[in-house]
Amino acid sequence: MDNIKNYVQQNKERFINELIELLKIPSVSADSAYAHDVIATADAVKASLEKAGCKHVEICETPGYPIVFGEHIIDKNLPTVLVYGHYDVQPPDPMKLWTSPPFEPVIKVTEIHPEGAIFARGSCDDKGQMYMHVKAFEYMIQSNSLPCNVKFMIEGEEEVGSKSLGWFVEKNQEKLSCDVILISDTGMISNQQPSITTGLRGLSYVEVEVTGPNRDLHSGLYGGAVANPINVLTKMIASLHDENNHITIPGFYDKVEELTAAERAEMAKAPFNLDNYKKALDIEDIYGETGYVTNERNSIRPTLDVNGIWGGYTGEGAKTVIASKAYAKISMRLVPNQDWEEVTELFAKHFESIAPKSVKVKVSPHHGGQGYVTPIDSIGYKAANKAYTETFGVPAIPVRSGGSIPIVALFEKELKSKTILMGFGLDSDAIHSPNEHFGVFNYLKGIETIPLFYKYFVELSK
Ligand code: BES
Ligand code: MN
Ligand code: MN
Repeated sequence: MDNIKNYVQQNKERFINELIELLKIPSVSADSAYAHDVIATADAVKASLEKAGCKHVEICETPGYPIVFGEHIIDKNLPTVLVYGHYDVQPPDPMKLWTSPPFEPVIKVTEIHPEGAIFARGSCDDKGQMYMHVKAFEYMIQSNSLPCNVKFMIEGEEEVGSKSLGWFVEKNQEKLSCDVILISDTGMISNQQPSITTGLRGLSYVEVEVTGPNRDLHSGLYGGAVANPINVLTKMIASLHDENNHITIPGFYDKVEELTAAERAEMAKAPFNLDNYKKALDIEDIYGETGYVTNERNSIRPTLDVNGIWGGYTGEGAKTVIASKAYAKISMRLVPNQDWEEVTELFAKHFESIAPKSVKVKVSPHHGGQGYVTPIDSIGYKAANKAYTETFGVPAIPVRSGGSIPIVALFEKELKSKTILMGFGLDSDAIHSPNEHFGVFNYLKGIETIPLFYKYFVELSK
């Protein structure tokens, strides 16, 4: 395995250039204007797997975007690793804030990435991280060191809720059978301190619509006499948190698991610098639920956040108007044991109940998914930790992340396999934001670390 370091050194230019080509295709799943590009990206991923040496690769059509499925079976008696990733990306908006165009990748040096980082939408989430697996596989084929069977399942709807993947997994349990699922779609603490994600939050995403009068009104003629839906909506939203920043929806916390003092003490050991955190975000102070520290607020505690709010006149100048309607998109991050469909119902019931008679309220669920926690004594976790220890020189720290990959809980339910989350991104890589980037160091380190996971997973499985 020593050779993986050499292999990466000798091929790094090509690895970077191949990723850059993939990043040029704008595979935005949320916007149908890009449908063509999303499909083209699936084809490109298929071709890359074939080129890396994967024996059987197919495009599996779904009611939505296709899933690229690859299979390389060397011996039915050996373990099977199923690699999951996604080739779709978030919309690039707001375009104005990008310092270089989102689909014209360039390498720039940053304070955190002195070796350079690839700036492009999807560089970190998840094309770059997914492609590390293709290149790690290529190495194992080239060096004849692949120790087990591999399956690849790369989808194109992760950023919009993985609807088709749920459908695909339920229908193809045999095809997808495996001993462990390996995903690089999360982050790590820093380039000096690797971590393994042991938890993901669940999600309930809803849209609300508040309707007042049946048409937009002159705010002088009618102002003060009829409910203004924007005023009402903002007041309703404000009431969803109390003075301690607890969420006020009845029943919301019923199933939330409280961690023990020992578990919280363990969490507190992960390196974290509050001053740097504030500095990086340019904020004077942090904010959140009373009784919990930052690293708990953003991982083991559920949240409710407005993601977007609109209504009325937002164009240039002033228009005196009381809008007929106001809208908001609201996400709730959930912790393991909270059921997302149940929480969605609790939200809808509560939101409707707090609306004054003067308006009508409509709640439309978008999508959601369950949270996930995984133990640290599994073969997969131990193998990942050994791999990181070897390439970074220090063991990985288990960390529960605040992000969501809803399909992970479904994998466990349908495929009965545990997922190992070997993420190589950093929180500062600006995923979903303008100027998303992925460190060249991180990309190459990922390619170097992944083959070791395979090696140790097979060794420890014996
Ligand atoms: N890769 C992210 C999730 C992530 C990032 C988890 C970093 C942990 C650390 C994924 O692509 C994502 O953005 N998920 C969405 C949910 C999805 C249903 C749209 C999210 O977390 O908002
Ligand atoms: Mn992702
Ligand atoms: Mn994402």
